[in-house]
Amino acid sequence: MHIVMASDHGGFQLKEFLKNQLAAAGHEVEDLGPDCARSCDYPPYAAKAAERVLAAKCLGILICGTGLGMSIAANRFAGVRAALCTNEFMARMAREHNDANILCLGERVVGQGLAWSMVQAFLETSFAGDRHQRRLDLIELFDRR
Ligand code: RB5
Repeated sequence: MHIVMASDHGGFQLKEFLKNQLAAAGHEVEDLGPDCARSCDYPPYAAKAAERVLAAKCLGILICGTGLGMSIAANRFAGVRAALCTNEFMARMAREHNDANILCLGERVVGQGLAWSMVQAFLETSFAGDRHQRRLDLIELFDRR
């Protein structure tokens, strides 16, 4: 699977860890940076990743300290459904019910083992469609941006 990843300094270590795990599992990772843990701003990385996920029609993973800033920024892009998750159940439901295309994680919130379980759950789960598609359509209908 082709997976887009990005972080800020607060999510850098977890990005590197997950990138290695994903590569070892046979996935093709597109790392949009940063390439070191020096302090940086998360919005440009969220924007770059959101645009790539939309263009490549693939899944993405965004990581900052809490995952909050990344999810807020990525969700500004029409077509992006970025889900901030803190456990495996949420990661699974984000795909199954919400058709999330970006998983947001907080390096200061979850450990590496849990993060990897969440990523695996996110990648192996498909959207259930049906009534959930109707609800996604309603989100678009009520979008006031
Ligand atoms: C950086 O200190 C931190 O604010 C950032 O990584 C993120 O948690 C923002 O939401």
